[in-house]
Amino acid sequence: MTMKKDFSKKLLITGGAGFIGTNFVRHRLTHHPDERIVVLDALTYAGNLAGIEPFFSNNNFRFVHGNILDDTLLMVLLREEQIDTIVHFAAESHVDRAIHEPDAFIETNVIGTHTLLKAAKSVWLDSDFKASHRFHHISTDEVYGSLGPTDPPFSEKTPYAPNSPYSAAKAASDHLVRAYCHTYGLQVTMSNCSNNYGPYQFPEKLIPLTIVNILENREIPVYGEGLNIRDWLYVEDHCRAIELILNMGEVGEVYNIGGNNEWRNIDIVKRICRITDDKFRKDKSLSFRFPDAPPGRGIKAESLITFVKDRPGHDARYAIDPGKSKRELGYSPVESFDTGIVRTIEWMLDNELWWRSVMDGTYRKWIDLQYKNR
Ligand code: NAD
Ligand code: DAU
Repeated sequence: MTMKKDFSKKLLITGGAGFIGTNFVRHRLTHHPDERIVVLDALTYAGNLAGIEPFFSNNNFRFVHGNILDDTLLMVLLREEQIDTIVHFAAESHVDRAIHEPDAFIETNVIGTHTLLKAAKSVWLDSDFKASHRFHHISTDEVYGSLGPTDPPFSEKTPYAPNSPYSAAKAASDHLVRAYCHTYGLQVTMSNCSNNYGPYQFPEKLIPLTIVNILENREIPVYGEGLNIRDWLYVEDHCRAIELILNMGEVGEVYNIGGNNEWRNIDIVKRICRITDDKFRKDKSLSFRFPDAPPGRGIKAESLITFVKDRPGHDARYAIDPGKSKRELGYSPVESFDTGIVRTIEWMLDNELWWRSVMDGTYRKWIDLQYKNR
């Protein structure tokens, strides 16, 4: 194929059709029109092209439907596109699925990441690749385990203690990335991030699930007593942090990225309910568009909250110590939760077609089965 030679960077973004990947690709293409962006995504149930399809006509963008387990494809892509930067998002990402069907998590998160590392090593280190390179691995705060109510937040020095098959698989991939840097000199950086929320998040995760269930008049399942705590980060802030790491991060270093925004699950669900009630009160057209939604019929959305059996091994609390990323990258989140959660609800109200289309029969059957078994 013919290629432009003057791109400032040539990025391979794995998992670029998933939630955070989509937001990152959109951010990158908007702010760096001088870069080549190649997205590699297997389009699992969690991946869809809606958010990146508008860029298909850009000369600097290419989407490849493929799997990170396919070593031949990886080598061809890295060589053909002269990739110098990999941003690795592709993963199985949902804890509940990992509890019921862990195999895919080991395959993609561990073996897939290792396949990608091997391909990067082969092309960047074992052949005559001259330019500098970077492998940025996206990981999670869940690898550090669970905090008690008064424990200090996770820092980059917190020992790993993953509790679920998902976080164990992510931890394994982190160790492999670190080892490829230490042993072979692969130029890696890593970020361990807290819970993201925002546009394009698949409605199996707490925030979009709560919004969709209100609009569809379904119970809002709150695990246990709803007292578990997460540190929520607006997805655009995560994208900004990754960008800072690519620009300023030191090779071999890990950066924890958080939102300074700890919430108990029950409080976040109640907050979404109240905001949605308010939206329906102020905009009567919503009652016509979502006739099943309780607030359109004068009933509070909170009436849908249902306490269900707890997630096995449910981590009590995650929180991020933002010190290092603030000191070394100048990073802090800019979106407040007040504005971020309203933006997210408004995005879901405006993008009904998107969430209906991703919630196909397979997904709905799977999630219904989980609640029946609780
Ligand atoms: P997601 O589930 O929304 O998207 C994952 C994407 O990876 C999908 O597009 C899917 O099709 C693709 N994919 C899955 N297996 C693949 C394979 N074998 N080959 C190629 N593509 C494959 O996930 P997300 O929430 O966007 O998370 C992205 C990354 O960020 C993951 O590594 C996750 O562990 C990490 N992370 C997520 C959060 C969060 O709150 N969502 C927080 C911290 C870290
Ligand atoms: O901390 C980062 C992690 O955040 C990422 O690594 C994961 O990929 C991402 O899925 C997320 O993991 P969580 O398990 O924290 O996210 P989830 O949205 O599934 O759940 C958030 C909290 O809400 C958690 O305490 C479980 C609870 N919950 C979740 C669902 C889906 C409920 O009470 N009811 C629900 O229906």
